[in-house]
Amino acid sequence: MHELYVSLGDRSYPIDIGVGILAQIERILPYVRHKKVVLVSNTTIAPLYMSDVVRGLMALGVEVIEVVLPDGEAYKTFETLNLIFDALLSNQCERSTTLIALGGGVIGDMGGFAAACYQRGMPFIQVPTTLLAQVDSSVGGKTAINHPLGKNMIGAFYQPKLVLADIATLDTLPDRELKAGVAEVIKYGLIRDLSFFDWLEANMERLLERDREALAYAVKRSCENKAEVVAADEREKGERALLNLGHTFGHAIETGLGYGVWLHGEAVAAGTLIATELSRILGWLSGDDIQRVEALFRRAGLPIHAPKMGAARYLELMRHDKKVEGGKLRLVLLRKIGEAVLTDVATEEQIVLAIEARCTETGSI
Ligand code: NAD
Ligand code: GLY
Repeated sequence: MHELYVSLGDRSYPIDIGVGILAQIERILPYVRHKKVVLVSNTTIAPLYMSDVVRGLMALGVEVIEVVLPDGEAYKTFETLNLIFDALLSNQCERSTTLIALGGGVIGDMGGFAAACYQRGMPFIQVPTTLLAQVDSSVGGKTAINHPLGKNMIGAFYQPKLVLADIATLDTLPDRELKAGVAEVIKYGLIRDLSFFDWLEANMERLLERDREALAYAVKRSCENKAEVVAADEREKGERALLNLGHTFGHAIETGLGYGVWLHGEAVAAGTLIATELSRILGWLSGDDIQRVEALFRRAGLPIHAPKMGAARYLELMRHDKKVEGGKLRLVLLRKIGEAVLTDVATEEQIVLAIEARCTETGSI
C-alpha cells in the first residue's frame, strides 16, 4: 500500500495505491456528503467492478446513481458527456453530490469534465482501472472530451478529491491496453527520471507478466513524478508541458486515423520515437540513444513506427496542438535520456525529416 499526495494548497489530495483497495470503499466516505454519489463507468468495466462497489457503498448507507456509458475513445464526445448531465439532473443531484469515475482515461476525463461543469463544479473521485489511468490520467486534474478536429480540445483543469488505484483491477485488462499504459510509464523515465528508465530496462518483462509488486512500484514511481510536476505547474505554464513528450505527434495519429483505431498509448509510443528522432537531428541524442529508447518500446510490444499519413497531414493536425502559441508549434524533445525540454527551435524541414524517418505504411500495428 502506497499513499502519495498531490500538493496544491486547498485543492491537495491523496493518491492511494494498493492491491485490492477497491474493497476498502470506506476510503471514499470522507469525500461524500449527504450520502449520495453518482458512479460513472462503461459497459466493459461495469460488469467487472461496478456491482461490488455499489454493494460496498450501499452497505455504508450511501445512495448510488449508476451511469453506464458506451465504451471507447470514439465515445469521448459531447453527446456522451450529455448522458452524464441527463443522469445528474434527472436524479436531482446537487452541487455537493460526489461523482466517482470508475474506469480508464476516457471515463476519468469525461467524468471529471462533467464534474467540473455540473452546477459549476461538484466533488469527484478518480478510481482508475487501466495502467494508463493509474500512472497518468487520473492524477493532475486534466479533464476533456474530443472534437472531430482535435483531441482533448474541450475541457477544464479540475482536480479530484481522491485517487484510488487498485492494482488488482489490472488483472482483467487486455494485454494491448496494458502495453499502452506502459508507454506513459516509459515517458516519466525519458523526461525526468533516468534511474526509473534504468529500472524499466531491468524490469520490463515483470511489468508485462503483471507482477503485482512491479506494477505497484511503476504506478507509485509514475505518480510521484506526476504529482511533483503538477504541484509545480498545475496549469501547464511551463514544466507540465514536458508530460506531453510524443503527444503532439501521437494526437495527430489518433485524430488522423480516427479516434480509437490506435490506442492513445500506442500513438504516444510512435510519437515519442518521432520526437527522439528529431532530438537526434538537432544533435541532442546519439544514434545509440535512439537504439536504447527504441529497444525499450520494442520490448514493451509498442509501436516504434508511426503510420504514413504524409508529413503535410501530420503538420496540419499538429497545428491544433494545445502547445501552439502565437501560431508557432512548440514540441517536447529530449536533451538527453532523462531530460526533456519544450522548444520551438526545430524547423519545419527538420520536423518533416523526423516524421518521414519514423513512418512506415501502416506503422507498427
Ligand atoms: P480507456 O479508458 O479507453 O480504457 C481502455 C479499455 O480498457 C476500454 O475498453 C476500457 O473499457 C477497458 N478497461 C478499463 N479498465 C479495465 C479493466 N480493469 N479490465 C478490463 N478492461 C478495462 O483508455 P485509457 O488508455 O485508460 O485512457 C486513454 C484516454 O486517457 C485518452 O482519451 C487520453 O486522451 C486520456 N488521457 C488523459 C490524460 C490526462 O491527464 N487527463 C493523460 C493521458 C491520457
Ligand atoms: N498527461 C499530461 C498531463 O497531465 O499534463
